[in-house]
Amino acid sequence: MAKSKFEYVRLFEADDRCLPNTWIVVRVDGKGFHKFSTEHEYEKPNDIKALSLMNRAATSVMEEFKDVCLAYGQSDEYSFVFRKETQAYSRRSAKLSTNVCSLFTSAFVYYWNEYFPTSKPHYPPVFDGRTVLYPSNQNIRDYLSWRQADCHINNLYNTTFWTLILKGGLTPAEAESKLKGTLSGDKNEILFSQFGINYNTEPEMLRKGTVLVRRKIPVALPNGGTREKSQIVQEHVDIIGDEFWNTNTHLLTVT
Ligand code: GTP
Ligand code: MG
Repeated sequence: MAKSKFEYVRLFEADDRCLPNTWIVVRVDGKGFHKFSTEHEYEKPNDIKALSLMNRAATSVMEEFKDVCLAYGQSDEYSFVFRKETQAYSRRSAKLSTNVCSLFTSAFVYYWNEYFPTSKPHYPPVFDGRTVLYPSNQNIRDYLSWRQADCHINNLYNTTFWTLILKGGLTPAEAESKLKGTLSGDKNEILFSQFGINYNTEPEMLRKGTVLVRRKIPVALPNGGTREKSQIVQEHVDIIGDEFWNTNTHLLTVT
């Protein structure tokens, strides 16, 4: 077929293929979720329904993108780790981030009703997406540790902040000034001595976030017996220490 004289404009499209042999992470993050969570009356400091909806949307991404070997989510964000050697979309950065982000957002809306049965979203939620490369196994572990440490720091702060307000009767300004300059030990102490709350027994999903991985799970066959089937499972475990990685060596191994 003859090419039009306009064809040359294709050359303006920059090649954005990710470096070979590097971990590709696509992270999505809710835009203005401070407002979105207030507008939709998310429970404070954590709304289990909203976090479960995030986990459902992330599961849709992993169902579609088989080269995502692990995903980690907390608050209004989710990180998707592609296998180091993935050839998805020829490793094109924008293709990866836009497809993941678009599917995540549409799944968030698609499944909204299962988690918030009595309401519709008041306006279309927006997530941003970015692709980041990590060359070494230590780098990708440190990236995931960074996100989980962020979850821990924010959740301990938010739990103490909202306990001071909801159970202690403080105003937000008073709670903020009480927590100014406190270390994590101080917050644990406030929770325990003033409210009898042992932070370490708070639900693990809130303290650690959610890890999605594929595991072989035995499923029942119609004629009896079982068959192993790969399924996406949610785990709320520590991914900063070595234990998770020592028991899941396949995740960091190039196949
Ligand atoms: P941008 O990401 O820069 O657009 O801003 P943002 O408003 O989304 O803030 P950010 O991503 O830094 O933080 C996420 C915000 O979402 C938190 O500060 C909370 O206000 C809100 N949020 C996330 N999860 C929950 C939840 O379970 N309950 C409540 N009440 N709020 C939540
Ligand atoms: Mg956000």
